Amino acid sequence: MVDFSLLAAGGIKDLQPYQPGKPIEELERELGIKHIIKLASNENPLGPSPKVLEALRGGLKNITRYPDGFDLTAKIASQFNVSPKQITLGNGSNQVLNIIAQTFLTPAHNAVVSAHAFIVYPIAVKMLGADLKTVPALDWGHDLHAMANAIDETTRIVFIANPNNPTGTWNSGSEIHNFMQRVPAHVIVVLDEAYTEYVTTAEYESGFSLLGQYPNLIVTRTFSKAYGLAGLRVGFSVSSEHVANLLNRVREPFNVNSLALLAAQVALDDHDYLEKSKKLNTEGMKQFEEGFRQMGLRWIPSIANFIAVEFQREAMPLYNKLLHKGIITRPIAMYGMPNHLRISIGLPEENERCLSALKEIL
Ligand SMILES: Cc1ncc(COP(=O)(O)O)c(C=O)c1O
Repeated sequence: MVDFSLLAAGGIKDLQPYQPGKPIEELERELGIKHIIKLASNENPLGPSPKVLEALRGGLKNITRYPDGFDLTAKIASQFNVSPKQITLGNGSNQVLNIIAQTFLTPAHNAVVSAHAFIVYPIAVKMLGADLKTVPALDWGHDLHAMANAIDETTRIVFIANPNNPTGTWNSGSEIHNFMQRVPAHVIVVLDEAYTEYVTTAEYESGFSLLGQYPNLIVTRTFSKAYGLAGLRVGFSVSSEHVANLLNRVREPFNVNSLALLAAQVALDDHDYLEKSKKLNTEGMKQFEEGFRQMGLRWIPSIANFIAVEFQREAMPLYNKLLHKGIITRPIAMYGMPNHLRISIGLPEENERCLSALKEIL
């Protein structure tokens, strides 16, 4: 028998497949229960925007044609006041992260990440055989001083999630700016802003305002969270034109499908939906914090659409008990956080059901 892992490219054999949140249908099949709620993948609990659904119906007639990203690129450019030449579209921002890694990393280089940071960064780095330098976290968040110190002559990329998943922690605008000043001009900094739309904290700033100053900065965004399009897979990055030009050489042609492109365009104009998503999230976050306070549980303060709650013992048995009550949350032991569960903010009634189930179990 051939051991195919010996044939796999350099970094592949040490990788673990990404573990997604458990799908509702899978739990239905396994336990035969109904009325399941999923608070496991930081999806938008509102359901799709009616305006997006209507546009998608109209877009179906074009599926025989290859997609054309021109209109979405132009819309992103005008909405965020950048040039279309600075934009790279992705099949989810996850694909953009992979494109960035493919563009700049080789087995002779390393990338710097924080402990407890989004797990796709280690996958993107290791699959290319590049080295991963993981910097210990500070209060569960990114320690940007230590990350700047970790940069060496073979560092090509630093990944920063702001806010971070699964911790919900964040770095202020001035922290990011100070960090950028310390980073050598040849090191690419990826500022992953997948959850930026949810943020209400005044000291937080998007990296968009720094792009003019730092040609080595790439900001990534997604339509999967606040815009409610996770299933369609669409995200993008904004960078200097020079860097975008390189990324777009690696990007496969037609990497975002026509329905996703259309939905994202409509979503960018659907300000009501975005406002509703944000308000629901802010209220839901308060609901969870209050519930945890009443139960005497500790949590990591989060500015995203999920919250990591701590049990001071292994969380997996609690996760399983919640599953039996039809509630899917996210164990995050693979993020080095075995005592936490990450819970996505849902509808008020879903949050309530999750909190009362936790109360019963504890
Ligand atoms: C921090 C962060 N970045 C990027 C992504 C990727 O999202 P998508 O590929 O759906 O755009 C996620 C998804 O969970 C995330 O948490």
